[in-house]
Amino acid sequence: MAEPRLAVRRKSHSSSERKRSRAPAQPVAASSPVARKRPSSGGEGPPAEAPCSNDSEEDMFGDYDSFYGNDSLIAQVDDIEHKYLQDKNMDVKTAGEIILGNLQSGVHQKEQDNFSASQNVVLLKSDQEEGAFQVHDSDPADGNQKLTESALDDLPSSQLLYFEKMDELSSASRTSALSKGRDERVNSFSDKIRDPLSFYAGAEHRNRPTDSSSHSKCILFKPESLKDHLKSAMTGNARAQTLQVSKTKQLKEAVLSEEIFVARKAIESSSLDIGPFYGLPSKVKDLLRQLRGIETLYEWQHDCLMLESLQQRKNLIYSLPTGGGKTLVAEIIILQELLCRQKDVLMILPYVAIVQEKVRGLSSFGIELGFLVEEYAGSKGRFPPIRRRVKKSLYIATIEKGHALVNSLIETERINDLGLVVVDELHMLGAGSRGAVLEITLAKLLYTSKKTQIIGMSATLNNVGDLQKFLQAEYYTNNFRPVELKEYIKIRDTIYAVDSKTQNGFAFSRLLNFKYSSNLEKADPDHIIALVTEVIPKYSCLIFCPTKKNCENVASMVCKYLKKEFRVHKEKEKEDLIKNLKSIGNGTFCPVLKQTIPFGIAYHHSGLTNDERKSIEEAYSAGVLCVLACTATLAAGVNLPARRVILRAPYVGNDFLKKNQYKQMAGRAGRAGIDSAGESILIVQEKDKHLVQDLVHSPLENCYSNLLQELTKGIQSLLLSLVGLKVAVTHEEVDNFMCCTLLGVQQQLLSKEKSLTEIVKDGLENLIEKGLLKGRISQKDHNSKSTLTITPLGKATYKGSIDLAYCNILYRDLKKGLEGLVLESNLHLLYLSTPYDMTSTCSPDWMIYLRQNMDDAVVNRFYLTFVLYALLKETNIWSVSEKFNLSRGYVQNLLSSAASFASCLLHFCEEIEEFWVYKALLIELTKQLTYCVKTELIPLMEVAGVLEARAKQLYNAGYKTLAHLANANPETLVRMIEHLSRRQAKQIISSAKMLLSEKAEALQEEVEELLKVPTDIPGTH
Ligand SMILES: Nc1ncnc2c1ncn2[C@@H]1O[C@H](COP(=O)(O)OP(=O)(O)OP(=O)(O)O)[C@@H](O)[C@H]1O
Ligand SMILES: [Mg+2]
Repeated sequence: MAEPRLAVRRKSHSSSERKRSRAPAQPVAASSPVARKRPSSGGEGPPAEAPCSNDSEEDMFGDYDSFYGNDSLIAQVDDIEHKYLQDKNMDVKTAGEIILGNLQSGVHQKEQDNFSASQNVVLLKSDQEEGAFQVHDSDPADGNQKLTESALDDLPSSQLLYFEKMDELSSASRTSALSKGRDERVNSFSDKIRDPLSFYAGAEHRNRPTDSSSHSKCILFKPESLKDHLKSAMTGNARAQTLQVSKTKQLKEAVLSEEIFVARKAIESSSLDIGPFYGLPSKVKDLLRQLRGIETLYEWQHDCLMLESLQQRKNLIYSLPTGGGKTLVAEIIILQELLCRQKDVLMILPYVAIVQEKVRGLSSFGIELGFLVEEYAGSKGRFPPIRRRVKKSLYIATIEKGHALVNSLIETERINDLGLVVVDELHMLGAGSRGAVLEITLAKLLYTSKKTQIIGMSATLNNVGDLQKFLQAEYYTNNFRPVELKEYIKIRDTIYAVDSKTQNGFAFSRLLNFKYSSNLEKADPDHIIALVTEVIPKYSCLIFCPTKKNCENVASMVCKYLKKEFRVHKEKEKEDLIKNLKSIGNGTFCPVLKQTIPFGIAYHHSGLTNDERKSIEEAYSAGVLCVLACTATLAAGVNLPARRVILRAPYVGNDFLKKNQYKQMAGRAGRAGIDSAGESILIVQEKDKHLVQDLVHSPLENCYSNLLQELTKGIQSLLLSLVGLKVAVTHEEVDNFMCCTLLGVQQQLLSKEKSLTEIVKDGLENLIEKGLLKGRISQKDHNSKSTLTITPLGKATYKGSIDLAYCNILYRDLKKGLEGLVLESNLHLLYLSTPYDMTSTCSPDWMIYLRQNMDDAVVNRFYLTFVLYALLKETNIWSVSEKFNLSRGYVQNLLSSAASFASCLLHFCEEIEEFWVYKALLIELTKQLTYCVKTELIPLMEVAGVLEARAKQLYNAGYKTLAHLANANPETLVRMIEHLSRRQAKQIISSAKMLLSEKAEALQEEVEELLKVPTDIPGTH
């Protein structure tokens, strides 16, 4: 399912690194029933480029935690295959032809036509058998040992000392002393939070044997393998900080525990009698000051937090203008839930990049306050999540991952563990298939867990009544914006203030003051240069452009006519940026950026790689760059400095700007804590004047349910999973459920011809026809009570989050693959992992194959497979994009979409017995696709915000493992790593600590679970 990535400037006080691809220049605003098309490009610069639909990313499930060692079957097969290929000189093209022949015949030709290709495959397989035996001969345990040893070699000396100490202790005395010690280290802080009284009970209390210490005893009597050793050392490492607590720190912790305890008690006893800081320890206030520079809450934030409905834990929707400070309120409610009510929390954010930023931003809070922050984005996240014994978890997820997480909690009957779900940018409910997924998630929550509180926020909501009804929520709104935003439009050389109270929609403000030569007038008829130079270089300026190409053109045009003096401003920093971008591109450097950066200007869109975007955003935030020409990728939820936002035209792609989009883009100007003023200027051609007047007067777009519009990703997928999860298994139950959806609320508006019951009936029948459900739908009696069941294919489809439009063809392709899976390279597997929905975005420059009169979808898919194949071989996005003449952003997006789809496939195959063989193969392939970097960089890239370029720098500087990063000194890190600010260094360290702690915790939970004595041992009662 699509999980778009958005390019973001995180807040000035948070690091802005991102991982892997992200994408689309997708409109963020809610859907509007009618989109007005752009009439003609006229004098508006270069022709509009079609909006890039491939900018989204397919991202479901992930198994990144299985990333240990190189001992998997496929890795070994790869080695052998490598040797084999050298021997046999088998080239990729031959392999490709075999596979394509096989697949093509699988899809479209009769079995007999396929005979020769299959013959080839069989021959290849038998040729390979010798190699296959070698695979089994190699000893995986040996591999493991080597891995463990080398991992130990890599540790810094402080860590080695720690290991040695552990070793000594465990070999010298296998007594309970160590068990207690370790147990104490592991549980000390979190236990204190869970049970603050224990902290004051003194040593005596702490030494009291507990259940967990007896578990630890069991661990000690177990012969300890090196792997176990490493696990326990990791556990220790993760807590290393707690191990060496100073007196002051202990005191601080005591105060914190006390406050949490008092706050929790206060909340339990009375909803009004709150703790020192909204029911939270005052440490939260300190952290907000230290980490965010926030001294006091705005009045509305205080009022909102004190709402009666919140005290009563009712669902709440709140809406304030862009930049109003909505996030902080949500964060305080989240902390209350985690610390005081001791429940897990899910926070749903719209884009991968924003999720990663939030993970980084909240990791320090987690470390200080004793909760876990778990990332559910890209290919990260466990399903179901690990059940934590002590600490509570904050899951920060994209829309798609949030849905998968909720499914897994319902399936394991743990949905009530989730105390709170927060949805940022709630207007996304109206945004196509992603809106449908969000609606499905929330409807499932409402139906299955009456105790889970739901909170939604947005700056751009209109039909709040519908949303309130859907979410059974109270509503809070306020017009507060800490920094005033002045909105203008420009027609010819006149600037008008936007004023919806006037008849026109705008009132004269001033004439634009500029002197243009006739040449310049021709090159810049919209006077962008005049508008920009009014603010730069002292202040920054964002120019939103309708298309990616337009961004590049505007950036080039502006710098061509800028005075030479602009080159002098922050010259050294700009040189550094250029150096940095060159090293990211392994020497290759975009010619447009080469020309524009010396003037402090850059473009920013999804055609750039993540590393490039990150560097450009950072340079822009630091004032090194003062103009960014960007697409709508920078339009929502981001905090960038922008004294002035220019909307270069009232279009996004070919579509006329929607009110929501306009508000979001304009709202990037004047963000609190970054700018003290903000203004937006929309450039309008005379011909569009009336449309813009309509825009000014029109209300924000409504959010409409997309369940019907997005058939296979909407209602059909919902019905399938309802039966699969056993949430509703009869027609009647499904009907009842549907009343709890937004579609249920808006049914009369959205489906005039059919009732909800009829829609459900059609949907269920369709699923039965497709072989995904089994059962009978009565023609007459709509309230049929006969039970529906899910078929294995149905289960595989919803578990793998496969779009229902592709599930049958996917099954056929995998089945065909079983007849002759070509394993002399990973080409065939890659073909199977190439996302179906990306084939429409690709037009192969591949005449020979096109002349074969083959099916376009297969040819396109295979072409993309070759791109992926080249990527895995070369691990260099630049050279591959050049080779295939595709933008590097597209190539990166293909890679991450394929990684996600591979993991979806994995989950699909897990449910279908005959596909067991794919499981092992796909685990490894997913890993390769997820990171697509040299293996040694993978552990570093697991840390939120460490991208390839940063990982390389860290690795080269000697930070080779997670432990290195978690234990790094921020000052040393800043000294050793170029272009790394102190704030970023601290965030990297916090994120690494959090990840390490989370992994250690997980291992610890696993150990506890393994050693738990079952209560139902036969004969013990
Ligand atoms: N009480 C406060 N004091 C000072 N700064 C604050 C306060 N609350 C929020 N801010 C700052 O205001 C900026 C905007 O806040 P935030 O990102 O929460 O806006 P938002 O309402 O979510 O806007 P959008 O709808 O555009 O996402 C942030 O930089 C944030 O740190
Ligand atoms: Mg926001």
